[in-house]
Amino acid sequence: MNIGIIVYSKTGNTFEVASRLKGVLEQKGHSINLERVTIEGKAKPGDKEVRLINIPAVESYEEVIFGSPVQAFSLAVAMETYLKQIPTLEGKEVSLFVTKHLPFAWTGGNRTLGQMEKICKDKGAGVREKEIIFWNEKSREETIKKCIANLSSHF
Ligand SMILES: Cc1cc2nc3c(=O)[nH]c(=O)nc-3n(C[C@H](O)[C@H](O)[C@H](O)COP(=O)(O)O)c2cc1C
Repeated sequence: MNIGIIVYSKTGNTFEVASRLKGVLEQKGHSINLERVTIEGKAKPGDKEVRLINIPAVESYEEVIFGSPVQAFSLAVAMETYLKQIPTLEGKEVSLFVTKHLPFAWTGGNRTLGQMEKICKDKGAGVREKEIIFWNEKSREETIKKCIANLSSHF
């Protein structure tokens, strides 16, 4: 299967998980493209919009996995801007994951996944898996493994 993993990652955590997920899916025999959304300058919390530089196209992928950090209890504005400009996700299944620093899903994790889910569903996608990785947890490594297993389970 031709799968796209598309992430925004400011400091590399989300990208690291995405790279490991890519490896696992490739081992299962899939063709994986890992693409990174990039922006001009730096986004500050409270910015309404950013200028995107790298804008990965989703058309060629049968399924897409989107990843983003939580920022200011919300979806990072770079990923929000990127997701909102996708013309359509009609007929595609997507999965979502977020990385965050603070413990508990209610410190932005649930809200961020909800924002991503709404944008994707409004564009016609079905949403499969949703995962939160708590970067500061002692059990981070276990959580990452579990998330990667869940995100790759149906492929
Ligand atoms: C501007 C900013 C705001 C953040 N806000 C939150 C937050 O509200 N909740 C949280 O759990 N982590 C927050 N974090 C931490 C990041 O979500 C966390 O470090 C994440 O893993 C970073 O992913 P990245 O390395 O892919 O950018 C914030 C980080 C930054 C830079």
